[in-house]
Amino acid sequence: MKPIQVGLLGIGTVGSGTFHVLQRNQQEIRRRAGRGIEVTMVADLDVERARSIVGDGVRVVGDAREVIANPDIDIVVELIGGYGVAKTLVLEAIAAGKHVVTANKALLAVHGSEIFAAAHAKGVTVAFEAAVAGGIPIIKALREGLTANRIEWIAGIINGTTNFILSEMREKGLDFSVVLKEAQRLGYAEADPTFDIEGVDAAHKATLMSALAFGIPVQFDKAHIEGITKLQALDIRYAEQLGYRIKLLGITKRREEGIELRVHPTLIPAKRLIANVEGAMNAVVVQGDAVGTTLYYGKGAGSEPTASAVIADLVDITRLATADPDHRVPSLAFQPDALADTPILPI
Ligand code: HSE
Repeated sequence: MKPIQVGLLGIGTVGSGTFHVLQRNQQEIRRRAGRGIEVTMVADLDVERARSIVGDGVRVVGDAREVIANPDIDIVVELIGGYGVAKTLVLEAIAAGKHVVTANKALLAVHGSEIFAAAHAKGVTVAFEAAVAGGIPIIKALREGLTANRIEWIAGIINGTTNFILSEMREKGLDFSVVLKEAQRLGYAEADPTFDIEGVDAAHKATLMSALAFGIPVQFDKAHIEGITKLQALDIRYAEQLGYRIKLLGITKRREEGIELRVHPTLIPAKRLIANVEGAMNAVVVQGDAVGTTLYYGKGAGSEPTASAVIADLVDITRLATADPDHRVPSLAFQPDALADTPILPI
């Protein structure tokens, strides 16, 4: 059977990781997907740099619309980021009948309802494992592994940049601004690092987990968001003396009256596992009524960890699309739930 053909929109850190891991592990991936998965086209504004990454065997273009218009492309991977052009291109790809894989948490948290509805109407999938907690398969866990459960709450360190900053401030007594520069140099921070330090990135991810866990629409605008910019080295030191660590947590919780959705610095007893998640690592705790407490830990950012999640979605779509061309990978829009009208509680 001919391989599934993938077009990448954007070949920066995650795109190049995706390309390289697909090549390196192609035999295993083909076996697991039941069919080969090949990147056959890449669009990037910097055509020369893109060509130097993918070589001569892949068609490189400067205009993403050429990828979307190509009838041979089965899956479009959006790795541009942001809400602007990325939104237009994702909607155009859906309209062209392509399945979409994206790591774009900002886009889905803000415009997810529109995008998932468009995908549903067209009979294609928008998959987004890479959008939350990078390489940790938390979307898969919520969507599949924990599907028997009534999820009670989720709490996670879901922004590596702020966790790195808080860790370095505590361990090395460094200043906030010095550590932020280092996080940017290491490639953890968003293009606009205020999204990291003001808690916006974590809120995007918490919004997606909340929607998936509770079967409610994506409602980023209702999230309570507080970042780490007001924290001082002294706060971290006092917390430590009292036996606590300060972590920026994304929290969503089911209550009688509605659903909590919030991001803020949180005091956690230092003995707890999650209090000891340091550096740019991510960790998510999910409490389900049947399973009890579960903990997921791993790299929440970076080239190959995020590529690992992108490729997991590619494999899922390949399996389902091959077994049944009309089959859709479940996503937020396809999980209507008894709680669909439950309000997000104001804080
Ligand atoms: N800026 C994000 C972080 C990247 O620091 O976690 C991954 O979403």
